[in-house]
Amino acid sequence: MNTDLDIVVASTNELRTQQFDELRKLWVHGVQADTHAVGWLPTSVFDARAATGEVTAVYRDRELVGWCLRGESLTRKVLKIYQIWVRPDARILEHGRALIADVAKIAHGQKCSYLEAWVAEDLAANVFWKAIGFTRTVWRWGRGRSLRKIWRWVMIAEKAGKEQRQPFATCQGESGNNPQWAGVEFYDANERRQSQHN
Ligand SMILES: CC(C)(COP(=O)(O)OP(=O)(O)OC[C@H]1O[C@@H](n2cnc3c(N)ncnc32)[C@H](O)[C@@H]1OP(=O)(O)O)[C@@H](O)C(=O)NCCC(=O)NCCS
Repeated sequence: MNTDLDIVVASTNELRTQQFDELRKLWVHGVQADTHAVGWLPTSVFDARAATGEVTAVYRDRELVGWCLRGESLTRKVLKIYQIWVRPDARILEHGRALIADVAKIAHGQKCSYLEAWVAEDLAANVFWKAIGFTRTVWRWGRGRSLRKIWRWVMIAEKAGKEQRQPFATCQGESGNNPQWAGVEFYDANERRQSQHN
């Protein structure tokens, strides 16, 4: 992957249909492939968040390489990052940082005072949050059978994103038919849910 090429970030409400469909596929794939890290959510959650523009896609040279799913707590004035995922072949190339930088601008624009992410203690991603300027605060036990400490990472929104967000205009690629994806088996969340009940 050429690291000299542009990184472009876009919200779901800025994407064309084909780009949206590709993002939805990659979201399902990421959740299935890295459930341990990003947590399990049904596709209905993606659809609801995507409908309100709360899913962000990141492109490198017009190729979709990752996404982030967020939500705002209006009462607490906090922007919560529920999930962030970058394709394994595109990691440590500043895509995660670009996603959060964009989300931080949105948080600042919406008068959220800080950004928040809850991260299991055993994940390599803890290094990522620290590297991009988040601070670890408190922890709670995770839900479910496995006992994992889940740490809360926060960053002041103003510090993170005072600049105004640029609208998504440069990424006009149609990477849905990208040959790179030929032969890649996409998981289907509903299929998995069904098979779990069988
Ligand atoms: C976590 C994740 C989103 C990071 O995305 P990324 O594009 O690889 O991260 P970036 O390239 O923007 O990294 C930004 C900084 O974090 C550091 N970093 C990121 N991942 C790291 C890792 N696994 N180990 C050590 N440092 C890491 C980078 O070195 C960089 O630091 P620097 O600027 O000081 O050099 C990605 O690794 C991923 O999708 N992981 C699997 C899913 C996951 O764990 N999601 C988060 C759950 S909380």
